[in-house]
Amino acid sequence: MAHSIAPSLLAADFGNLNEAISEVNNSAASLLHLDVMDGQFVPNISFGIPVIESVARVCTKPLDIHLMIVEPDRYLSTYAMFKPEYITVHLEASTHLHRSIHKIKELGCKAGVAINPHTPIELLKDTIKDIDLVCVMSVNPGFGGQSFIDNTYTKVTNLKKLIAETNSNALIEIDGGVTIANAEILSRCGADILVAGSSVFRAPSISEAITALHG
Ligand code: DX5
Ligand code: ZN
Repeated sequence: MAHSIAPSLLAADFGNLNEAISEVNNSAASLLHLDVMDGQFVPNISFGIPVIESVARVCTKPLDIHLMIVEPDRYLSTYAMFKPEYITVHLEASTHLHRSIHKIKELGCKAGVAINPHTPIELLKDTIKDIDLVCVMSVNPGFGGQSFIDNTYTKVTNLKKLIAETNSNALIEIDGGVTIANAEILSRCGADILVAGSSVFRAPSISEAITALHG
């Protein structure tokens, strides 16, 4: 099954963002994945509104904003101003997930929900029909360059079944530790979008790495 690639800018050289983004623009990538970390929901701080504002000006690919922050509702309308394709909030950070999903849609974006490695897919059962994208974390969020957690294969297979059984249109995104060694099998398990940071931006050629991940 065909899958798309969303390079994660977190692994790019922040001193040379223009060049990194123009390589992504000229690649087969479908989205640019942007990791917002607040130092509270995850033990790391990445970048936020001013950086994304600049990225949005030069990036020609649709943006995929992954909010690893507490109280994400406070910032949804701000991130929606950059007209991303997706805004993703974490299930674990959302007290009123149903409300957050609908708020994202009202703001004109597609709604993503991310789940940490310890979070069972069953917790998505009552919202899956409203969700456009489930981001399955295949590492504990907070850092790039971590090793892929193998339980993700089973999780994706079961999530694919849940999506089919409920007639949901949600796509499955995998985030963390994606390489050419696991891309194909993830795709066979039912993944639609693979996020890849280190395996793209630490490669000798960004666009060739993106092509290779398509299999
Ligand atoms: C982790 C982030 C990921 C990260 C992936 O918290 O959500 O998007 O950038 O990086 P790699 O592909 O290096 O694991
Ligand atoms: Zn991410």
